Amino acid sequence: MSTLGNEIIDWPKQQLRGHRLEGYRYTSREFFEKEFDRMWAKVWLLLGRESELPNPGDWQKEDVGPESILMVRQEDGSIKAFYNVCQHRGNQLVSEEKGHVRRFVCRYHAWAFMPDGELVYVQDADNFRGGNPCGKLNLKELKCETFAGFIWVNMDPDCSDLKTFLGPIWDDWSNYELESWKRYLARTTTLPCNWKVVMDNFNESYHVPTVHRPRGTLEERKRMHSGVDTRVENTRFDLADEGHNRMIMPGGYAGVSKNEDGSIGEPLATIMREWGMDPADYTDRGNETREALQKAKRQVGPSRGYTHYEKLADEQLTDAFHYTLFPNFAVSLWSDGFHFLRVRPHPTDPEQCVFDNWWYASQPEGETAPVRTTAEIIPRDAEVEHEVFELGEKSMGRTIDQDVEIFSLQQISMRSRGYEGAYLADQESRVERYHELIDDYLEGRQPE
Ligand code: FES
Ligand SMILES: [Fe+2]
Repeated sequence: MSTLGNEIIDWPKQQLRGHRLEGYRYTSREFFEKEFDRMWAKVWLLLGRESELPNPGDWQKEDVGPESILMVRQEDGSIKAFYNVCQHRGNQLVSEEKGHVRRFVCRYHAWAFMPDGELVYVQDADNFRGGNPCGKLNLKELKCETFAGFIWVNMDPDCSDLKTFLGPIWDDWSNYELESWKRYLARTTTLPCNWKVVMDNFNESYHVPTVHRPRGTLEERKRMHSGVDTRVENTRFDLADEGHNRMIMPGGYAGVSKNEDGSIGEPLATIMREWGMDPADYTDRGNETREALQKAKRQVGPSRGYTHYEKLADEQLTDAFHYTLFPNFAVSLWSDGFHFLRVRPHPTDPEQCVFDNWWYASQPEGETAPVRTTAEIIPRDAEVEHEVFELGEKSMGRTIDQDVEIFSLQQISMRSRGYEGAYLADQESRVERYHELIDDYLEGRQPE
C-alpha cells in the first residue's frame, strides 16, 4: 500500500549501485538489440485505451521497436493482443492505425483470421502438403490486461501479472476513476535521440529551473509557471522495487501566481474562483492557498460530480504527482488531469525514438468548465483526433518543446570522445536507478 487512508506513504528505500551512463548505451546497435530482446520483450507495455475499442471486432495497431501489435475487442467484451503477422508467409495483416473487422483478411493470399485469432479460411485448402492449416495455425497471441482504462501488453509468455508488475502504482492510481477519463490531447512524433535520453529527462527535475525557466525573481525562477513548487528541498522522491518511481511537488501555491501587489495571479486565481473561493481574501497570504484549495475541493467536489475526491488524499487534490513507469511511460497525475508521455524505440535506429504526448481529464457529471492542461485550455466537449507529425511541424506543448530542444544535442554528444559518462546529483537518483534496472534485465535479472 502506498496510500493509507488520507496519507501518502513513502515507498521502500532503494540501494543504488552507482552508474556511469556511458554514451554507447544511447548509440550502440548491439546494445539496442539486446535491450529489445531482454528488456522490452519482458515488460508490460501500455499500448492502448479501452474506450478506443468500444465494439467487438474493433482493433488498434501499435508498433514497439521492430514489433507490430494488434489489440482486438472480443465478443465477450475482453481484449486480446496479437502480433500483426500473417501465419502464412508473414505479411503484416493490417497497416492502418485502427479499424473494425468481421475477419482479418491478409492482402497477400487472403488467409482470414477471426477477431479471436482463429484461422478460418485459406485459398486452396487441400493444396498443402502438411494438411489444411485451418485448425492448426492461429494468430500468435500476447499477454494482455487492462488497468485504469488502458490496455497493457506483454510479449513474455511467462511474465508476472500486471498488478505485480505495477507494484505501488496500482494502489496510487486506483482511486482516481481513471477508466472514465477522456482524452483531450494526442500527439505523436519521432525524435532524433535514443528513447533513454527522453526517460532520463523525465526522471529528474534538476533541469526544471533552467530549461523551463519562468520570468521573475530568482526565488520565483525556481518554481514553474503553473504554481508548482519545484524546489528540491520540498520535493518527495520514491523509488519502487519494481523499477517505477514517484516524485511529488506541492501545487496550488501562490508562489509564482502572485502579482506585484501581493494579490493572487493567474492561473491560480481562476482555479480558486472555480472552487467558490475569492482570491482577494488571500492577498499577501499566498502560501495559504494550497490548503484552502484542498478544503474547498473536498467540501464542494463530490456534490459537483467530482466523486473521486472522496477517495483522494489532500495532497492529491492540489499537488503534482509525477510517476515514471518502467520502462517508457512518464505521467503527471493531477486531481483531474493525466498527462501521459510515452516513448517507444525506433524499429531499427538506436538514435531515434517515437514519442507520444497525451492528456486525459476527469469527467465529472454535469461539468461544463473547459479542461485545463499545463499548456492549453480545451473545450469540455472537444473530440480529439490523434495527430501524428514530423518534429517541428507543430508544438508538442511549450514545456515539452523546451525539453525536446535539448534531446537532439545531447544525443550527438553520446557519440563524442569527449563524453565519458555522467556525474549524477542525488536528485538524479531516479535516472541512475533506471539504468541499473535496464542492466538487470540485460543480465537476465528481473525485479522480484
Ligand atoms: S502472407 Fe498472408 S496470406 Fe500469404
Ligand atoms: Fe522538462
